Amino acid sequence: MRKGILLAGGTGTRLYPLTMAVNKHLLPVYNKPMIYYSLSVLMLAGVRDILLISTRESVLEFEKLLGDGSQLGISIGYAVQDAPNGIAEAFIVGEEFIDNSSIVLILGDNIFFGVGLGTRLRQVKDDGNATVLCHEVQDPQRYGVVALNKDGEIIEIEEKPTVPRSNFAVTGLYFYPGDVAKLAKSLSPSARGELEITDLNNLYLKQGRLKMENLSRGYAWLDAGTESALLDSANFIASIEKRQSLRIGCIEEVAWAMGWIDKAQVIALADQNSNSSYGAYLRSIIRDKS
Ligand code: TTP
Repeated sequence: MRKGILLAGGTGTRLYPLTMAVNKHLLPVYNKPMIYYSLSVLMLAGVRDILLISTRESVLEFEKLLGDGSQLGISIGYAVQDAPNGIAEAFIVGEEFIDNSSIVLILGDNIFFGVGLGTRLRQVKDDGNATVLCHEVQDPQRYGVVALNKDGEIIEIEEKPTVPRSNFAVTGLYFYPGDVAKLAKSLSPSARGELEITDLNNLYLKQGRLKMENLSRGYAWLDAGTESALLDSANFIASIEKRQSLRIGCIEEVAWAMGWIDKAQVIALADQNSNSSYGAYLRSIIRDKS
């Protein structure tokens, strides 16, 4: 069974002053805290044992929001990343938690949506290889970009290339085998002083152990790290939720759909939100979908 790391540290400087006093991942994306979207994706991937890594100041706030996860039938532990030393440092901070298990890492500011996403993620093979999820984007320069050969296999991943060799960006959702902490510890900081996730992925590639899953056009991928992306994400979620009267990133609904909590537990969670439409939605899924 894979474990999960939810990474919610960093500095959020691109959103200043919004993130001067508030952790980026606690900002609203329409009607939920940003972290709900990435947490729900981890849960859809079948992950029940999760380590949330954030800054020392923010860990307590996440704990206030999510507790130990037992209300969702999962386990959430917390760890501190002392400084934003790069995404790959998550595996060093989380080494004890990982304990040689295979791992799913998701960045807390990434939002994924698409029918069948959970099934697709649960099908990613746990076979000693790493898997990155890629998505075609208009502005690949902002991301890690895969260079592919004519058979569609990855030859290299380039971090924020000025001349991208494809439009396929590596998203913030990664699957790693049990030796990920060992490989992360062998990395050296990049020119910007970070342990780069792209360097880690290129290490797996060199060992012939990197696979790519392409999220096709049926899926949406957004990262809410800039002011326009934050607004776009909120508008995207709002437009789907209003048209279809369903909610995206509703962690209680996912826990119930996965069979990890029962009706009575969902109703108890609805009661905690009894004055908001979120609580009304939780009551409605029990009424309409059971
Ligand atoms: P970024 O968006 O690259 O960095 P940031 O969140 O600090 O924001 P900014 O660039 O505006 O200053 O981070 C991507 C995700 O990874 C985000 O969810 C924060 C997380 N992160 C960490 O938790 N620790 C880190 O050391 C880094 C670099 C990122």
